Amino acid sequence: MKNRILFATGNHGKMKEIKMIFSDMDVELLSLEDAGIEIDIEENGASFEENAILKAKAIAAIRNEVVLADDSGLVIDALNGEPGIFSARYMGENTSYHIKNNNLMQRLDEKNEKDRTAHFVCAIAAVFPNGEVAVTRGSMDGVIAREEAGENGFGYDPIFYLPEYNCTAAQLSADQKNRISHRGKALIEMKKVLVEKLI
Ligand code: IMP
Repeated sequence: MKNRILFATGNHGKMKEIKMIFSDMDVELLSLEDAGIEIDIEENGASFEENAILKAKAIAAIRNEVVLADDSGLVIDALNGEPGIFSARYMGENTSYHIKNNNLMQRLDEKNEKDRTAHFVCAIAAVFPNGEVAVTRGSMDGVIAREEAGENGFGYDPIFYLPEYNCTAAQLSADQKNRISHRGKALIEMKKVLVEKLI
């Protein structure tokens, strides 16, 4: 029988990405919606890893299946790692990213290029039915731009400038971004863990 894997997300974009990356594996991937699970998990961990693990454990506690969960965010060096694990909640969950992005650029106004470095970080946790836990991490390095650019992607993408590509993350196609993104890298590492554990 195919291994079933639950991915603790309600986000269709993330589901599409994980399905693409796992497409050559003989597994059935289900979102929380697919599995008929409705749950509100408080993300009160102190790191991306802790938050990913607590989300995966909360689902594993109600379903005896392999559960994956992720947590991600933007880390800006000159702001002591802000917004970090609070990226979604920064300035309030309902504040537009146009406002959040402009606020961050304003806070970095005086900083020159070398002090505008930032990273997107993603942790993926897996919890197995025997209680074993595995975590992987991926990151993507960039620089906070001086103005928003690009229409693709979401969140902080329009101000995340990638010097190697000479554009922001919002100016990459979805495929290009998946290939180099923090989430893409963490998922590829997690795929290696699953290949080992599930066979
Ligand atoms: P979560 O991992 O779904 O909780 O997302 C955390 C937050 O980090 C998102 O709401 C965005 O604000 C930010 N974030 C994470 N990954 C990205 C990305 O690839 N682009 C832009 N923003 C991101």
